[in-house]
Amino acid sequence: MIYKELGRTGERLPAIGLGTWKMPVDSRGALAALREGFKLGARFVDTAELYANEELVGRAIAGMEDIFVATKVSPNHFHYDDVIRACEASIKRLGVKSIDLYQLHWPNHSIPISETMRAMEHLADSGRIRHIGVSNFSVDEMVEAQGSMRRYEIVSNQVEYSPLARSVEDGIAEFCVREHLTLIAYSPLARGHVFDERSKANGVIKDIAARHNRSVAQVVLNYIVSKEGCVAIPKAGSIRHVEENVGSTDFKLSKMDIESIDSISGYTRRPLAGKTLQAFLKSTGAWAGILERIERGRRSGQ
Ligand SMILES: NC(=O)c1ccc[n+]([C@@H]2O[C@H](COP(=O)([O-])OP(=O)(O)OC[C@H]3O[C@@H](n4cnc5c(N)ncnc54)[C@H](OP(=O)(O)O)[C@@H]3O)[C@@H](O)[C@H]2O)c1
Repeated sequence: MIYKELGRTGERLPAIGLGTWKMPVDSRGALAALREGFKLGARFVDTAELYANEELVGRAIAGMEDIFVATKVSPNHFHYDDVIRACEASIKRLGVKSIDLYQLHWPNHSIPISETMRAMEHLADSGRIRHIGVSNFSVDEMVEAQGSMRRYEIVSNQVEYSPLARSVEDGIAEFCVREHLTLIAYSPLARGHVFDERSKANGVIKDIAARHNRSVAQVVLNYIVSKEGCVAIPKAGSIRHVEENVGSTDFKLSKMDIESIDSISGYTRRPLAGKTLQAFLKSTGAWAGILERIERGRRSGQ
């Protein structure tokens, strides 16, 4: 495993962490995969209140030391009191004394960011969270969020980044390097699309993988974490996949390999929400409404 500094905290973070989106809270397979990942050195796990599986992560880390736990507060909880309540509920579900990295899941322009960041600073002051991060923030949004904090620095931005989704290369990645924020690459395997044999990208990556006697997943993850300040959080639901992913950092891609993957052009799949739709959702706070409906649905289904 290789390590990267988290922001400029002096703390070392494994370059491969474990994503958990869509892991069912009661899945034994997911529990075993997470435990295996920790054992092999990926001692960094990412969840969110929205994923409804913080209890699963709590069970996976129970009795283990030095696991770095990251979770997220949903944008419908960005008012001051809601942030505090959401954090306390996450701490309880995770069964931890404090959260290592607490992240704002998506921007919500309908609530002043200064109010949200004040709550985050209060949580850090009181020791309930150790570090403050954001997710899906643009450069302007990162600047505004940092500008409204007095005592702490934002240490990371969690954004989508894979050979098939490279919009962070339009400014976010450069900003993170310059300002010493760790870029946490989510969906680094493009939610499985890098394995699609019909795509040109898969052909390029498969050739490189064959030359290194590695798998496609290993080449893709190695490529992402070869970028300055980048760590990746692939989600693997089986021990086989987790072993493969955690073993992705002990070889070196050549400059030419990296350039070939860099030059995979175009987006071979549509992003979840296009740029215009994303801007609309953020500015109207519509994400918050959507998330509230998901949460209500989940509660009524329980
Ligand atoms: N902040 C945000 O807004 C946000 C959004 C999306 C995701 N995330 C985070 O990022 C994490 C990862 O992203 P993701 O779950 O969207 O997608 P991903 O990690 O890019 O891809 C996951 C898919 O790849 C498969 N896979 C994993 N390892 C493999 C391997 N070695 N060989 C073949 N297939 C493999 C998985 O299958 P199996 O399950 O069968 O192993 C799953 O279908 C999430 O779990 C979540 O923690 C954050």
